[in-house]
Amino acid sequence: MVQIALTGIKPTGTPHIGNYLGMIKPALELVHSYRALYFIADYHAMTTERDPEKLNRQIYEVAATWLALGLDPEKVVFFRQSDVPEVFELTWILACLTSKGLLNRAHAYKAAIDENIRQGKSEDDNINAGLYNYPVLMAADILLFGTHVVPVGQDQKQHVEIVRDVASSFNSQYGKVFTIPEDLIRIDVMSVPGVDGRKMSKTYRNTIPIFADDQVIRRQIMGIVTDSKTPEAPKNPEACNVFSLYRYFAPPKAVEETRRIYLRGGARYSDIKKELIVLLLERFKEGRRTYEVLLRDKLATERILKQGAATARSIAEPILTKVRHKIGIDQTDL
Ligand code: TRP
Repeated sequence: MVQIALTGIKPTGTPHIGNYLGMIKPALELVHSYRALYFIADYHAMTTERDPEKLNRQIYEVAATWLALGLDPEKVVFFRQSDVPEVFELTWILACLTSKGLLNRAHAYKAAIDENIRQGKSEDDNINAGLYNYPVLMAADILLFGTHVVPVGQDQKQHVEIVRDVASSFNSQYGKVFTIPEDLIRIDVMSVPGVDGRKMSKTYRNTIPIFADDQVIRRQIMGIVTDSKTPEAPKNPEACNVFSLYRYFAPPKAVEETRRIYLRGGARYSDIKKELIVLLLERFKEGRRTYEVLLRDKLATERILKQGAATARSIAEPILTKVRHKIGIDQTDL
């Protein structure tokens, strides 16, 4: 039987090249070997996003990005988390089975506390219960669909471990209902550098958006931080922020050639930046058209998401029915 791969995409920013290389591209490749369920984790975003207009825009931007980059809604169950109410029922059930201590140890929550302490504030300052329960909602997302593998970034590894814990305790207490999921982390694209050399992340404001105006993309790339070596000086390509992006977009032969020029001397950063601009604009040219059409036609996107949600609910329903039966809430329908 073909296994289920499921992942959630948090709509907390405009999708950028780091998202593309680290998540979107590998997830779209998995579609050939798994039954893929990909969803927009809008209620996860709500733990941090309080601006309704911005949240709404980001939901559609993320949906349009995935569709424009080739997600085929006939092959992938593509939906919005909030359209599947079963997720939230399961969240409560799982919350009642999750020890508070387990959530106390979650990295994201601990990091928020540490930051408060560092700033001399009270531990819980500005920390909402949604953030605290974040891993439980994620457990519901994953367990509700009998997920086998969860393609995520390294930063989500602990969350998947928590989900495994929660699933195992349910299974041992009530009998096996849940599949124990595995994380699927691609080590080769773990860290895509942003224009300042740190990991590309919206928190650092160092991103290159996938479908921005040509002008924005040009400006960002020309602004990539480099050292002050002369073009003639031999350089280490692996230590160069421009090369680190270039190698993902240039054809393999060009990458090898450029690598040689770096090592031997003669690589001019501004030339490689210009080449990278052309490569990026070309790579996303077709997608950009679809992206723009979808952003103008929200109803088209909405139809796709609603269709996906209907399929997702049909997968979720028998599992939730089984859970309700096992825990003693409703034993009439089995
Ligand atoms: N927490 C994930 C992130 O921040 C998003 C997410 C929500 C998710 N639910 C999920 C990922 C379920 C995988 C499976 O990126």
